[in-house]
Amino acid sequence: MSAVLMDGKALSAKVRGEILEKARALTAAGTRPGLAVILVGEDPASQVYVRNKEKACAECGFYSEKYVLPAETSQQALLELVEELGRNPSIHGILCQLPLPAHISEQAVIAAIPPEKDVDAFHPANVGHIMIGDFDFLPCTPAGVMELLDAYGIDPKGKRCVVIGRSNIVGKPMAMLLLHRHGTVTICHSRTQGLADICREADILVAAVGRAHFVTPDMVKPGAAVIDVGMNRVDGKLCGDVDPAAAAVAGYLTPVPGGVGPMTITMLMKNTLRAAEKAAR
Ligand code: GUN
Repeated sequence: MSAVLMDGKALSAKVRGEILEKARALTAAGTRPGLAVILVGEDPASQVYVRNKEKACAECGFYSEKYVLPAETSQQALLELVEELGRNPSIHGILCQLPLPAHISEQAVIAAIPPEKDVDAFHPANVGHIMIGDFDFLPCTPAGVMELLDAYGIDPKGKRCVVIGRSNIVGKPMAMLLLHRHGTVTICHSRTQGLADICREADILVAAVGRAHFVTPDMVKPGAAVIDVGMNRVDGKLCGDVDPAAAAVAGYLTPVPGGVGPMTITMLMKNTLRAAEKAAR
């Protein structure tokens, strides 16, 4: 078997086209969607993500502001910036790129973002909404995965879904979205015993581990949909959490790059558009 490669780049382009149309209409009616992106420090991967977010804003016809602050920025100064953006009517979404330097509490910064501008869906109020299945914003990476599954006709209903990774950004909300869609969901992590056996039961396997080529072909059920959320740099080259050789066993596989990555940013645009639409009402 050779897996169907799930093309996140093509799907992103299509969805961004739809967002651009809606953003134009909203702008014509007096509200141009606006996103503020904050980067603290010089993490090279974060710099790339932030640049791609700015580019996506331009592609979707959004207004955007970028704040690049030195790594020594105090928590107080960052909180003041977030609060100021919270009051700015031209800004509908605020994103503070994680991770933050160790002296800044990520939770304190997230809590300072007004929930209606929290386009990452990281604020505890939004996390709670996701938990109960009543939400405005979906966390971007898991939402991107769901759109990819839908585009390829893969329905989680009744399926065995295994998520490797339990982060607040990906693993936990991913499990919740699959559960809302009636999947039978298992979350695995670094202390899980018998991980390979559990993975082999998965009809839908989501790898969000942060370790290059962690998922090997022997961990994949023949015909499974394998979703690779990994963005690892090995010798300067971007590679996923799934060994590409898994394509010989899987039915579907998201490539890295070009799978989940572009979808994540597109879902950020979708959330920002939604925030602007709500603000315009
Ligand atoms: N760092 C890695 N992924 C993300 C994300 O989706 N949002 C933010 N704010 N930071 C991140």
